Amino acid sequence: MNFNENLQIKSFADYKKAYQESLENPEKFWSQVANHFIWKEKWNHTLSWDFKKPEVKWFQGGKLNITENCLDRHLEKQSNKDAIIWEPNDPNEESRHITYKQLHVKVCQFANVLQNNGIKKGDRVCIYMPMIPELTVAMLACARIGAIHSIVFAGFSSHALASRINDAECKMLITANNYYRGRKSVELKEICDQALQETTTIETVIVYRRTLNPTPMKEGRDKFWFDELQHAYSDHEAEVMDAEDPLFILYTSGATGKPKGMVHTTGGYMVGTAFSFQNVFQPSKDDIYWCSADIGWITGHSYVVYGPLAAGATTIMFEGVPSYPDYNRFWEIIEKYKITQFYTVPTAIRALAKQSVSHIEKHDISSLKVLGSVGEPINAEAWHWFNDHIGKGNCPIVDTWWQTETGTIMISPIAGVTATRPTFATLPLPGVQTALMDEEGNEIEFNNQPAEGKLAIKSPWPAIARTIWNNHELYKKIYFSLYEGMYFTGDAAYRDASGNYRITGRVDDVVIVSGYNLGTATIENAINDHEKVAESAIVTFPHDIKGNALYAFVTLFNKNDASEKLKKQIKKQIANVVGPIAKPEKIQFVSDLPKTRSGKIMRRILRKIAAHQNNDLGDISTLENGDTVKKIMDNSV
Ligand code: WT7
Repeated sequence: MNFNENLQIKSFADYKKAYQESLENPEKFWSQVANHFIWKEKWNHTLSWDFKKPEVKWFQGGKLNITENCLDRHLEKQSNKDAIIWEPNDPNEESRHITYKQLHVKVCQFANVLQNNGIKKGDRVCIYMPMIPELTVAMLACARIGAIHSIVFAGFSSHALASRINDAECKMLITANNYYRGRKSVELKEICDQALQETTTIETVIVYRRTLNPTPMKEGRDKFWFDELQHAYSDHEAEVMDAEDPLFILYTSGATGKPKGMVHTTGGYMVGTAFSFQNVFQPSKDDIYWCSADIGWITGHSYVVYGPLAAGATTIMFEGVPSYPDYNRFWEIIEKYKITQFYTVPTAIRALAKQSVSHIEKHDISSLKVLGSVGEPINAEAWHWFNDHIGKGNCPIVDTWWQTETGTIMISPIAGVTATRPTFATLPLPGVQTALMDEEGNEIEFNNQPAEGKLAIKSPWPAIARTIWNNHELYKKIYFSLYEGMYFTGDAAYRDASGNYRITGRVDDVVIVSGYNLGTATIENAINDHEKVAESAIVTFPHDIKGNALYAFVTLFNKNDASEKLKKQIKKQIANVVGPIAKPEKIQFVSDLPKTRSGKIMRRILRKIAAHQNNDLGDISTLENGDTVKKIMDNSV
């Protein structure tokens, strides 16, 4: 294997060779990668796995602390290099540069704060914070003492927060009093207080003051971040962790309506994030890398924090949104910091592409070397706009396909190495053994012919989630039962004659809106909770900016209740229970939902109606109540 010192594959021939080796002898391949890190004790068994159970263990017997690899390891050679550059929501507020040395001190100090408050190895700590450096400090401090962090996106509702706290039985909640996002100011602590009325396990709440707004504090339970720092030492000896000890839980939506707490462990996740970061983005020593994702999502965990820091890179954290104060914001940031790698989501690209190109022309963005996209399929138009106007035809676009469950990028070009192709995530990274499955559940072997099917993975990669928190049975059912001995992704894909993959979308009850992964069942439950609603079905239809938007078909107990006011109430209810991102674009009251004889809602038909493709309904002969379809079509919105 011809890696240079920092693990990078530099030619397509090298990629081919590495890929081959990684499948023939994964133990050898990943041991070589893992040897680049600091281990307190070396592993004695590289991999054991059985997808039937399912069980996966990497680097067994290995002892380490991921924060020593993300921080301590870099102190000798680059202690004064910026680890994090923070750009605030408001361009007139000052940005913050935090060097590796400074970040190390902050993390050690906050690790002591956690311990002073009784948090121990294995305890769960919920972090509900905006995009400020303290979020990274809090997560790394948890990792330093071996506490399992569970980060909840700050845009989620109090109810969503409470259900996640309850599921993981978190002992502590770390939050901020308030935050800014675009023109909005959000009283985060008040949302926490509401959530805490529905929970019983939280003993301490630590509150970072992002603003000087008055903050409601509960005596004995709530403590200010700064007060706690006053009596915390700034050195801290990292806890010794087993390679397979859980590092974090991160919730993702699921078909059951209840979010699933995906559990990621320490050793494999570290090796996987660092390796994929180094290869996909090909950073060099002085590069400034920016991933615009929120840390509340897996993209932020793996590619704002752990991957870049494990690689010793400089990572940008941006608090704001692309449209505030105006659509210059992203280009301004790229110019200001001379960003070299820029990783974002198709929904942002499409929104930016709608604006005048004069926003871009005002800025020198020639520092860019690599562009990245993640979260949903990137349509050809958005791909070309990104390539022409932002990359100026000179920057490879890495369209990275992966999931909360996979922990790391799975299918993606390696920048400058793999030939890119619009709308294709291209080829699997080393260690990723993809399989395309036909309708009968047989693998469609690759024989240089184009093919279409469901996407599965045949063997484990280091960062695969090991289980669903407290629900291994569900983990087995969702991911390992459709195809025996394989991981099922929930996505469909097209593979061209050269083996390049294009991901075509979900084939289960998950919908992706603006890159957010939402479960239809969760939203439907929220709608059905309304006293006037009998039943509902959520589907998506194509949307210019969001990629997909939500369309809700709702039946009422009493059809005379149908009104615009009720639509508003339903939207409000969804915002409260799930979060504002899950509000449907359209709601249609219907007298009946089309169902199969076995009582399953025919979403396929509702999707066609939502997309106004009424001539293309396909076979409706299996419908129990075929005449309702016409009525729904006639009244569609
Ligand atoms: C689902 C996973 C991975 C971080 C963000 C989303 C879709 C993701 C792509 C892509 C087409 C994509 C898939 C996947 N998806 N990346 N490059 N092209 N679709 O993580 O919330 O767990 O969602 O996002 O449908 O299964 P997530």
